[in-house]
Amino acid sequence: MVREILKMGDPCLLRSAKAVVGFPSEAINVLIADMLDTMRAAGGVGLAAPQIGIDLQIIIFGFERSARYPDAPPVPCTILINPEIVPVGRDMEEDWEGCLSVPGLRGVVPRYKRIRYRGVTPAGERLEREVDGFHARVVQHECDHLRGVLYPMRVTDFSRFGFTETLFPEIVEN
Ligand code: NI
Repeated sequence: MVREILKMGDPCLLRSAKAVVGFPSEAINVLIADMLDTMRAAGGVGLAAPQIGIDLQIIIFGFERSARYPDAPPVPCTILINPEIVPVGRDMEEDWEGCLSVPGLRGVVPRYKRIRYRGVTPAGERLEREVDGFHARVVQHECDHLRGVLYPMRVTDFSRFGFTETLFPEIVEN
């Protein structure tokens, strides 16, 4: 079921999400199915549970091709519960980001270039990967949602922040 995506300004987006306990469970599976429906309906590349008002540490991300990020390489479709990130090295890189909770806007955000992340799948299996580039960026963005951080809070240069339709007229956001 497609749920409403909360927008920046909603205090629910500023909370620290709670760790999920007692899964696999039917309730968590239903929640994840709703998150997938909601992300796909919005054309997003990632979604965190707090964005639909659920105060739990669950993120989903991944796509083959994205109209919102036409130049981004594919990222495997992933569901991660209680995720953790460890930066690999100190190198940062800047790139444009948007967010379904901040519709119509894009900004340049510095992120760790390379990270290791781990978490648990809905089936209860541990997942660990080392990734870089856009994949690493998406995971850092989604994990930020679990700590009440939205990407505009990480923008350092507001000359590179603005409306998608003005900055990138070729990108159509639905
Ligand atoms: Ni977001």
